[in-house]
Amino acid sequence: MPDALKLGFGPFAAPARGVLVVFCDDALKFGPATRKAIAPAAGLVARAAKAERFTGKNGSALELIVPEGLKVARLVVIGVGKPAELKQKDFVTLGGLAMGKLPKSVAEACVFAELPGGALRGDDAADLAQGVELRAYAFDRYKTKRKDDDKPPASRKVTVAVGDAAAARGAYGSRAAVAAGVLLARDLVNEPANILYPEEFARRAGALKKLGVMVEVLDIPKLKKLGMNALLGVGQGSAHEPRVVVMRWNGGKKGDAPVAFIGKGVCFDTGGISIKPSAGMEDMKGDMAGAACVTGLMHALSARKAKVNAVGVIGLVENMPDGKAQRPGDIVKSMSGQTIEIINTDAEGRLVLGDVIWYAADRFKPKFMVDLATLTGAIIVALGHEYAGMFANNDQIAERLTKAGEATGEVVWRMPLSKEYDKLIDSKFADMKNTGGRMGGAITAAQFIKRFVSDKTPWAHLDIAGTGFDSRQSDINKSWGSGWGVRLLDRLVKDYYEK
Ligand code: BES
Ligand code: MN
Ligand code: ZN
Repeated sequence: MPDALKLGFGPFAAPARGVLVVFCDDALKFGPATRKAIAPAAGLVARAAKAERFTGKNGSALELIVPEGLKVARLVVIGVGKPAELKQKDFVTLGGLAMGKLPKSVAEACVFAELPGGALRGDDAADLAQGVELRAYAFDRYKTKRKDDDKPPASRKVTVAVGDAAAARGAYGSRAAVAAGVLLARDLVNEPANILYPEEFARRAGALKKLGVMVEVLDIPKLKKLGMNALLGVGQGSAHEPRVVVMRWNGGKKGDAPVAFIGKGVCFDTGGISIKPSAGMEDMKGDMAGAACVTGLMHALSARKAKVNAVGVIGLVENMPDGKAQRPGDIVKSMSGQTIEIINTDAEGRLVLGDVIWYAADRFKPKFMVDLATLTGAIIVALGHEYAGMFANNDQIAERLTKAGEATGEVVWRMPLSKEYDKLIDSKFADMKNTGGRMGGAITAAQFIKRFVSDKTPWAHLDIAGTGFDSRQSDINKSWGSGWGVRLLDRLVKDYYEK
């Protein structure tokens, strides 16, 4: 059973049990409430700091077990470096660091949200609390056996002590909504493909109705009627039927054009007839991370009642080899009317996205579109697991995404698009082919998607193959499925499209 986290805010008061987490700067200075609470152990802390060469540099920590004079079982001092240099995302990280210092077996902890200059503002304390929640996540629902020392308590209570608990609580509402969106996305990515196939994914997206999101599920007859043959071709080898899910949140002005988010939702990618090697194929359960992000984002926007009209459209399929599967050489007619020669059935994400992105633009005439896809191994070769690759037909959306990335730490790096790359996907037999060769593979994939986007619609494509799963572990994420992109896009909406 996963251990529930009970997160709350309270006043600065020396806790009587559990773990106490406090912060200091790089001069080993504490805030006044902290100094008072740990006063009986002040000498001990100073000696321990010296013995451990703890200097309070950002991200470092000093731990004291059963410190004489205090009632708590453990005191953790976390260094923040120079408080004046802390940015918003650093407060989230501090929460993650604090949570990371709580042993699994701990049932109760108190985090003093205070710097030498005084108590954190409500906003910063709420960011810190979000970091606690993001770090606390673990996907362990399929673990039935645990060693004794690995058994978590039934629930864990973490209190964030602040100057103004009411203000922090108020500010936390929207942060909790976003955190829940991230955790939803992580869950979806972590679920194995025997559990999370297109229909089941659609069912889980349906739960957003409770938050006031309109959710429509398009099944095969509807997809056929719409002419989404590129998407249907990918799914035709699977025993699981494809689905397209449309999620709409109307929190903005009536009639205001929506912002649109489109996600690749390949619930499992074997490669199809162009089958992948078996080593590492299990990772392809995460090939729906783009769709997971869009779903998590719609959760976040609706749960925090964002003042925006937003639509999320996800294309859900399973790419399998089979007697009915699509073959290399097949030619399909996409919803846009353009024909595609299938060269490699493993380049399936672009086929799904081409149809879904066309559909989203055609139906909703959005202000802009951002698509997310674990699209190419090539983007991992180019950028590793730090930055997501960004391609855009519009400088403004690219800049805004870059800024939102820096603000949240979910960073993107812009990659090129050009006629020369576009030529590489011209086909002998059809309007285009679905691969452009090994070289510049992430770019030719983006060029392919671009052929389904009108120049008049600002559009950005995020290749998240390196960040959506198995990405860099951080102080706020220890999960395989990272939920990458939810905080980035929530921030994009918040900073530029909620007026
Ligand atoms: N889902 C994969 C890309 C991928 C690979 C994501 C590794 C995450 C980790 C995608 O469908 C794919 O197979 N792409 C091919 C394209 C090629 C056949 C042109 C690739 O990158 O090799
Ligand atoms: Mn593939
Ligand atoms: Zn794929």
